[in-house]
Amino acid sequence: MCGIVAVTGYKKALPLLLNGLEKLEYRGYDSAGIAVIEPETKNIICNKAEGKLRNLINNLNDKNISGTVGIGHTRWATHGKPEVKNAHPHTDSSGNIAVVQNGIIENFQDLKNKLEIEGVIFNSDTDTEVIPHLIQRELNTLSKLKLENNGSTLLVAVRNVISDLEGSYALAVLWSGAPTSLVVARRQAPLIIGLGEGEFMCASDTPAIANFTNIILPLEDEEIALLTPLGIEIYDSNNERQYRNPVSLKVSEQIIDKMNFKHFMLKEIYDQPGTAKNWLENYLIKNSENGQYQINYSFDTKFFESIERIDIIACGTSKHAAMVGSFLLEQFSGIPTNVFYASEFRYSPPPLLPNTLTIGVTQSGETADTIAAIDMEIKRRSSSVDKTFKPNLIAITNRKESSIGRQVPNIIDICAGIEVGVAATKTFFAQLLSFYGLAIKFAQIKGSQSPDEIGKLITELIKLPPLLEDLLEKHNQSSEKLAHDFFNIKDVIFLGRGINYPIALEGALKLKEISYIHAAGYPAGEMKHGPIALLDKKVPVISIASPGEVFDKVISNAQEAKARDSYLIGIAPECNGTEIFDYLMKIPSSNEWVSPLLNIVPLQLLSYHIAAHRGLDVDQPRNLAKSVTVE
Ligand code: G6P
Repeated sequence: MCGIVAVTGYKKALPLLLNGLEKLEYRGYDSAGIAVIEPETKNIICNKAEGKLRNLINNLNDKNISGTVGIGHTRWATHGKPEVKNAHPHTDSSGNIAVVQNGIIENFQDLKNKLEIEGVIFNSDTDTEVIPHLIQRELNTLSKLKLENNGSTLLVAVRNVISDLEGSYALAVLWSGAPTSLVVARRQAPLIIGLGEGEFMCASDTPAIANFTNIILPLEDEEIALLTPLGIEIYDSNNERQYRNPVSLKVSEQIIDKMNFKHFMLKEIYDQPGTAKNWLENYLIKNSENGQYQINYSFDTKFFESIERIDIIACGTSKHAAMVGSFLLEQFSGIPTNVFYASEFRYSPPPLLPNTLTIGVTQSGETADTIAAIDMEIKRRSSSVDKTFKPNLIAITNRKESSIGRQVPNIIDICAGIEVGVAATKTFFAQLLSFYGLAIKFAQIKGSQSPDEIGKLITELIKLPPLLEDLLEKHNQSSEKLAHDFFNIKDVIFLGRGINYPIALEGALKLKEISYIHAAGYPAGEMKHGPIALLDKKVPVISIASPGEVFDKVISNAQEAKARDSYLIGIAPECNGTEIFDYLMKIPSSNEWVSPLLNIVPLQLLSYHIAAHRGLDVDQPRNLAKSVTVE
């Protein structure tokens, strides 16, 4: 998390920095700051503010900052509270070096102790502050070697310093000694370089620079680059100069518009019928000879034949999508599948088993735990002599150009378009669809379902777009009304079973994330083993009851809640049994397999309206960030 942006060129830096920070605010909004080199004096002017970017913009209102070289940062606090003193950029003792960083310097305490012994005084509680001090020390050493004050010297200094850093980072450095140069570097945190007109820039993510250029150069892991108004030099970790062709940004990567919606989250909930249409167009192909549909994933799926089991690694909402995926892959496609929290998998992986497919799921493609877990899995499998242990990998992501896109050869691009709301909605939906595609593909290859059964599931998927539109129309207003009655509640229980258990978890997570109301999801059958003790008339229960295998069981579990005075909200079609609900959010009848794709929509709307009714910052909930690039 945290977003960085930097620019050097012949135009004023500030507009680009502030525009970039606005687009990066989804990565953190505990504080924001900029540093720009003053053209006449070559001094670094630094300005920082606690909280949202608008506070920084207010600070800068009456200032004339005309410099053309600068860096900016929007922070998600890791080390040190969200206070001005901990806001980036951080400077060295002389104020001649300024640094912005995204990541975590794991050995900062050791480095800080050593610097303090040398007499350095620290002004913040951050891990980042060691970097400008270390660069200052390095530049002092280099000046004794009679190296000139220029960008190349700064490059050497930064390279020497980062070789002592442990952890992950993306950073940008300014030095008044080389006032037109910028040095940027990355290790396991994203950074892309943009080639503008009369300026070169870099940022944590493409939207940050999309208003200024559509030509980019992604920086690879462990690379360092020198940017000046005249050009870019990129070096790998062996100090070899790297040359590569720039690429164009897709139009969809440039558009970030709320349209007429009050919040991005609501817009993104409404994008979902389009997400479904896109997915069907991109990935469902009818074979003209036999009339059967095929899933059009772009990689060679021959290796599927040897797969005997699947491990899925993910965090947060992506893990909930993975749980639905796991249900499908086991119950529909017949392949034993396990889902792991990435943060757990990386330190306690299951014993290696042969012929395993590992799937990483991450909408951002940057989640540090997921990237590290996949990396660990690749390494331990590649080092095995037994060929059946070799890594077979797929990544499901919304950002194929991201870290996971570079790490994993087989990508399923969920094609959801940019999602700005921190609480994932349409990317969750598109991840679910990707798993339906995988389950169909495996069922076809393994013959675990008859072509008829597979055809039925595909027909249900094809019906989705108008059903979703209908759901949105029906439930937007009704969930707004429901939110009016429930915006002050303290606890909510979500129940689901089978394929809809993960939807109960996701419903609860959405509510927690944006409304700060305590919510927990349970498999409905488990309620009597503990959670039932929480129930009384102040604790509503939201029960997902889709007709199918476990419908009667879910209804019985809902009865048990009703008997404890809970207000019961049902997410179900109108049918026998659903009369027990105090309020029914009606879902169109569908095949149980596809029910998660419909059930999630009213839950998203309800969370949204409760949070909006509470007057909260729906798109940027406190303490969260969209892209969690720290462990
Ligand atoms: C953060 C976000 C969540 C997201 C999770 C995993 O916690 O706030 O919305 O589900 O990261 O993100 P990923 O990019 O890996 O899907």
